[in-house]
Amino acid sequence: MSRFQSEKLRALTPYTPGEQPRDMQYNKLNTNESPFAPSEKAIAAAAEAAKRLHLYNDPTSRALTDKLAALYGVESDEVIVTNGSDEVLDFAFQAFCDADVPAVFADITYGFYPVFAARSGLPYQLVPLREDFTLNIADYFDLGRALVVIANPNAPTGIALSRGEIEQILLHNRDNVVVVDEAYVDFGAESCVPLIKKYDNLLVTQTFSKSRSLAGGRLGFGIGCKSLIADLHTIRYSTNPYNVNTMTQAAGLGVLCDEDYTRRNCATVMANREWTVAELKKRGFETTDSKTNFVFAKHPSVSGEYLYTELKKRGVLVRHFTSERIRDYARITIGSREQMEALIKTIDEILE
Ligand SMILES: Cc1ncc(COP(=O)(O)O)c(C=O)c1O
Repeated sequence: MSRFQSEKLRALTPYTPGEQPRDMQYNKLNTNESPFAPSEKAIAAAAEAAKRLHLYNDPTSRALTDKLAALYGVESDEVIVTNGSDEVLDFAFQAFCDADVPAVFADITYGFYPVFAARSGLPYQLVPLREDFTLNIADYFDLGRALVVIANPNAPTGIALSRGEIEQILLHNRDNVVVVDEAYVDFGAESCVPLIKKYDNLLVTQTFSKSRSLAGGRLGFGIGCKSLIADLHTIRYSTNPYNVNTMTQAAGLGVLCDEDYTRRNCATVMANREWTVAELKKRGFETTDSKTNFVFAKHPSVSGEYLYTELKKRGVLVRHFTSERIRDYARITIGSREQMEALIKTIDEILE
């Protein structure tokens, strides 16, 4: 810590990303990445784009924005492309929260939300999930002025609300922006993108990091009505107009030209998830109803921390959270079938 730190910085607890160790080759099931390489079309497009790196990238990400708009059945000015979906989420906090407009989100959800708020000195309120980690939509009715943020499906629980349930939240928040963070939507949940024409208070965010195998490319996007997106561009142009680099824009376009590959990989991940859940249950684990590329599991006689530590010793990385309500659990990313078989084999060794 330097002696020059502002008060704001002194008070800030940063987000802790999942471990990315380089000391050995792990069976890496801790950060919800895709086990599959990026589409060949993405790799070829990024390599070609590297030849143009002496020039600034297109600050509007025009080709990618147009392609996303066509794919999701919206207009180009209803889409914003960002450096990972973390960036569009951060922009939303900056654009739609104020000293008297707190962000409101679940007590158990994506750990970056409180950091986005705290970093910009914005207030936030936590709404506890039910005992079983399901979200009671009525808790989001009659909030007063707020920015409502809902990860759907939620992380790290994996549980999803239906589009109809989110619509209820939108109807009860006509004067509030509702952000629906759909980072994991491609693994079996319902997207709220079709609702953006009906609700000018809805912002849906998605990412290329999970279903589209581009976590290291850092690419995300937001879809909402034109005026919401325009506000986000104002923040973007005030932060980093060149937010998505040339190679990532090209790689993103390449991925979108290979939707079959994405769909096939998602289907494989979902099948591997069902296999993993069944195997965990046979061994006494309880799991939540995950609609994501991870499972959230606890064992009656092995703590989450013990499981995490013993798996790591044996070369398998999963994610463990220390906060009170979820410290019995481990969050396990769904990888290839071979990765999941290796996980189960290692769990058997630990349980013995
Ligand atoms: C719920 C949720 N939202 C958003 C993100 C951010 O993803 P990215 O910035 O890679 O798009 C993550 C990352 O794990 C996440 O779990």
